[in-house]
Amino acid sequence: MMLRRSLIATALVTTIGGLLVAQQNPSTSGVQQERFGAREERPIILYTLKNSHGVEVRAMNYGGIIQSVRVPDREGKFADVVLGHDTAEGYIPNPPYIGAIVGRYANRIANGTFTLDGKTYTLPKNDGPNTLHGGSTRTFDKVVWESQPLKDKNGVLFEYLSKDGEEGFPGNLKLRVTYVLTDSNELVIDYEATTDKATPLNISQHSYFNLKGEGNGDILDHEIMINADRFTPVDKNLIPTGELRSVKGTPFDFTKSTRIGSRIEDNDEQLVLGHGYDHNFVLNRKGAGMTPAARVYEPTTGRVLEVSTTQPAVQFYTGNFLDGSVTGKSGHVYKRRYGFCLETQHYPDSPNHPGFPNTILKPGEKFHQTTAFKFSTK
Ligand code: GLA
Repeated sequence: MMLRRSLIATALVTTIGGLLVAQQNPSTSGVQQERFGAREERPIILYTLKNSHGVEVRAMNYGGIIQSVRVPDREGKFADVVLGHDTAEGYIPNPPYIGAIVGRYANRIANGTFTLDGKTYTLPKNDGPNTLHGGSTRTFDKVVWESQPLKDKNGVLFEYLSKDGEEGFPGNLKLRVTYVLTDSNELVIDYEATTDKATPLNISQHSYFNLKGEGNGDILDHEIMINADRFTPVDKNLIPTGELRSVKGTPFDFTKSTRIGSRIEDNDEQLVLGHGYDHNFVLNRKGAGMTPAARVYEPTTGRVLEVSTTQPAVQFYTGNFLDGSVTGKSGHVYKRRYGFCLETQHYPDSPNHPGFPNTILKPGEKFHQTTAFKFSTK
């Protein structure tokens, strides 16, 4: 033990792009870290969180990307249940936002514009007429965050200062995101932010799950329960119409656990517009705090994923735009619907919908949201 302690306290010095970088490998909390690449002359560091059940989560400071999540099936056999790449370079570029933190405004802002305190802001359009996931260049998924292992928890802290005017958004926005892996097989993601000017903020995590194991076919046989009586129907640009529509009697009713694929090809206007599920579900909640959002079960492996959150909604996206053009881990080709996302967040385009829950963060306020992904078997 003494020896191990002294070894883990040893600082390693690495040269990256001409810079001297001191690394601790691993940290005192037991979190391992390794150099995974470099971007803009800054090291990309991959952190490995492991718990007492052998569950393992790897995440990097580039885009806060969750690179792998290894969990057992009902026989105790481990598999990696998130899509991703073996190298950091694999994520540059990353058009499907695999594994990343997305923002400053996750999801869509119509026509790349919004008005705040009488001023109209223009954002880069990167999704037809819309701004998707914060813009095109310096968005949360495409930058190297400051990072360090947490001292008192099995986790990692990512910090990023999104500067005033970045991608057209107002205010210096200071972000802190932590990923903690608990001994109850929960990955807890905590987001905090402050700003010096009023700004829209919608932050989410864009991991694609496949509980059979990444690359192992599509997700249509997974069964999902979504704790939502209503969803936000969209127009042809996937912008909410403003209506909160009841899921009752529609293919959007997942209030009882249902196969993802059972109605996905129905001739339903909303499914056609979304090319499948790509919709924001309004969570049923009794007051603030953590609320169950969704529960997914994969019958062949018995793996279960439960998502809970403080956020008001979850975007259920069935990987409709994956088209086989991305080759991921171990050469696996990610085809249509090989992964699903459960992106907890605010409703899309809220800055242009005064009736939707508020997404404007003001100076002096503290933004705080939490989402947990819990893994088990049945
Ligand atoms: C979100 C969007 C989808 C798609 C993916 C990334 O889930 O809602 O339409 O853009 O991100 O491909």
